[in-house]
Amino acid sequence: MCGVKCITFALWINILSVITEKTDFELELTPTKPVIHVGTDLELICQVKACPVNVTFKWRALLDKFHGGKIKDEQTVSRLLIRNITTEHNIKIVCKVICEGKPKERTSDIKVFSFPQDPVLPKIKSLIANQTQKLNCTVHNVYPLERIQIEWLRGDKTLFVDQPEESFNNVQPEESFNNVQSYSSVFSYTPSVLDLGKNISCKATLEIAEIGLEKTRNSNAEYGPGTITISSNNPSVKIGKHLEITCQADGNPQPTILWWKEETEPAQIKSQNEKLIINNASRSQAGWYRCDASNAVGSQQRRVKVIVLGPPNIPKIQLSQRGDPKEGENITILCSSDDGSAGLTLYKQSAASGALNKQAVLLNIPSVQITDGGIYICEAKNDFGTERSTINITVEALPDVVKMADLPVAILPAAGSVSLLTIAGLLIRYCRKKARTNSSNITLS
Ligand SMILES: *[C@@H]1O[C@H](CO)[C@@H](O)[C@H](O)[C@H]1NC(C)=O
Ligand SMILES: *[C@@H]1O[C@H](CO)[C@@H](O)[C@H](O)[C@H]1NC(C)=O
Ligand SMILES: *[C@@H]1O[C@H](CO)[C@@H](O)[C@H](O)[C@H]1NC(C)=O
Ligand SMILES: *[C@@H]1O[C@H](CO)[C@@H](O)[C@H](O)[C@H]1NC(C)=O
Ligand SMILES: *[C@@H]1O[C@H](CO)[C@@H](O)[C@H](O)[C@H]1NC(C)=O
Ligand SMILES: *[C@@H]1O[C@H](CO)[C@@H](O)[C@H](O)[C@H]1NC(C)=O
Ligand SMILES: *[C@@H]1O[C@H](CO)[C@@H](O)[C@H](O)[C@H]1NC(C)=O
Ligand SMILES: *[C@@H]1O[C@H](CO)[C@@H](O)[C@H](O)[C@H]1NC(C)=O
Repeated sequence: MCGVKCITFALWINILSVITEKTDFELELTPTKPVIHVGTDLELICQVKACPVNVTFKWRALLDKFHGGKIKDEQTVSRLLIRNITTEHNIKIVCKVICEGKPKERTSDIKVFSFPQDPVLPKIKSLIANQTQKLNCTVHNVYPLERIQIEWLRGDKTLFVDQPEESFNNVQPEESFNNVQSYSSVFSYTPSVLDLGKNISCKATLEIAEIGLEKTRNSNAEYGPGTITISSNNPSVKIGKHLEITCQADGNPQPTILWWKEETEPAQIKSQNEKLIINNASRSQAGWYRCDASNAVGSQQRRVKVIVLGPPNIPKIQLSQRGDPKEGENITILCSSDDGSAGLTLYKQSAASGALNKQAVLLNIPSVQITDGGIYICEAKNDFGTERSTINITVEALPDVVKMADLPVAILPAAGSVSLLTIAGLLIRYCRKKARTNSSNITLS
């Protein structure tokens, strides 16, 4: 009936309808998968293209109820502004439009997270090698909490990895937002000497792989100086030579180091960095030094004794009394040194006696005689040399009369230590005098 023309018309209609399909209106909602932080604002834009008439937009939440957005419509665009996103906004939002009777809708899948702050590590007073202590790292206001992971590091070495358990033992609900929470990772840490000087850090990672979220926040522990290492525990230096001692302290912030010389009044600063340098060592530089390490968190000190090697100090020789001793007096000669490195000897010139390796040597002569007079030598000796001091002792003879009266008293207690010759001599003189004064017998045993 209608023939070829008819078929052509039908085809034409068909083509037309295909073209109309093609030029059908478009609807776009952006962003389609926003990943957004709690507390921030989100704007969804729903845009119509190729619709010949004005349309109205309808916003709704899929499955959930949703309030709180502000809608702003223009001819072809509608904007939904959600201020101050909360965990409640973890929803799908639909934008719906009808153009010439044909409906269309697009969905935006909102993923909310919260991870606003670096982990918090309380200050640690000090960390001492081999001493275990508990460290605590807390992340606040996290959502979703089950996706947080805490890693403890020393330098770049992982010490411990921690994650909230299903039961959320350590979880404390936060007051400010409904669903954000905090988590504390407690770690028993035993510092090793090898790790001294490296930062201790707590690294928190919030990862939701499905939506491509991975956020990391890091904090370093602040701690006071604990272990102090000194390069030499028994430093010694020869006179005139050079000595360098290093003091290192573990701590964050890096402790400042001061070297003090003790035993001076007041103590003197010898170095304001970790190196104590003694150039051209002299005896006065020997003694105790102190390394003070301190930072904002705390302080520690360590002492070290520096020994200066060289000939000994000149020793001191003293007589127990002032002036020349008189015959028969009880005298003591003292040989001493303030230098611990030296051995001491005390002897009469040309008649060695005394003791070695003592800080002080005493020679007691309970009843001194003329023949005890002479030069006494106090000698200090070590591996590097010998120093001496001498004293010239002259024993005053007593006038005869005084001697006489004293004799029995003087001889008897002293007999043991006075030479036989002296006793004999005195006895002879005594007897002669007795004979002259016509006295009676005396028996000596
Ligand atoms: C759409 O609305 C605007 C004003 O809101 C009006 O000026 C315009 O003529 C309308 N267009 C159509 C196609 O109705
Ligand atoms: C965001 O909302 C929370 C509670 O829902 C509120 O405590 C906070 O003050 C709000 N922040 C802003 C910037 O409005
Ligand atoms: C710490 O322990 C290790 C091994 O137990 C030991 O070798 C080291 O001397 C200790 N260090 C200190 C400072 O106590
Ligand atoms: C760890 O620190 C948090 C926050 O300061 C505190 O609430 C928690 O009690 C601490 N945990 C331990 C075991 O000290
Ligand atoms: C250790 O941490 C402090 C901050 O706490 C930082 O200034 C310093 O650079 C860190 N040191 C190293 C070696 O990373
Ligand atoms: C080393 O010290 C001694 C004594 O103080 C001094 O006489 C000498 O000149 C010094 N030598 C140098 C190289 O400074
Ligand atoms: C001599 O004096 C010393 C102290 O100066 C005393 O210890 C000692 O006993 C005295 N010896 C005699 C015999 O009196
Ligand atoms: C010790 O003193 C006496 C008297 O003062 C003196 O005669 C003698 O020469 C002195 N000896 C020495 C070695 O100086």
